[in-house]
Amino acid sequence: MTLTELRQKCEACKKCELGNTRTNLVFGTGNENAKLMFVGEAPGEQEDLSGTPFVGRAGKLFDKYLEAVGISRDEVYIANMLKCRPPKNRDPLPAEQDICIEYLREQVRIIKPKMIVCLGRISAMRLISADYKITKEHGIWVKKGQYDMTAVYHPSLLLRDPRRKDEMLADMMEVARRYREL
Ligand code: URA
Repeated sequence: MTLTELRQKCEACKKCELGNTRTNLVFGTGNENAKLMFVGEAPGEQEDLSGTPFVGRAGKLFDKYLEAVGISRDEVYIANMLKCRPPKNRDPLPAEQDICIEYLREQVRIIKPKMIVCLGRISAMRLISADYKITKEHGIWVKKGQYDMTAVYHPSLLLRDPRRKDEMLADMMEVARRYREL
């Protein structure tokens, strides 16, 4: 399957109610041959309106970290666990995650990144380990199958708790260091 075919499949998906309540599918953006992939949680309002991940307040903060460590959005791939916005940004339901993660897995198989960075606890719990503790484990790297993986704080957490920004910068610097070594 190609990414275009997968996108079409997601566009047509009505396996959960979010397919009916969303404005736009937020499939993912960036370099389709990226070596580095970021995976967030679910689209918010601005993402739902634009069809692009991480374009709202949290996304703008995330862009600053990318810029600070010398990585451009165009060279990486950015996606979410869920491709449709949960109403009022509520947490994704387990059933919604179970359905949508299959699309994400296929997306990863097609892009074949070397490194996957989870943005926040929710994607880390699904992609790294079910009992992931973001405050303790952020920035720790693990090998899962063929992928080097870590999680960093979700940028919206940093908007609520700016005291964690130094840790985020340190984690993102390590992401960039490893990325440049590939
Ligand atoms: N939060 C996410 O997890 N993903 C987005 O695309 C935007 C905000």
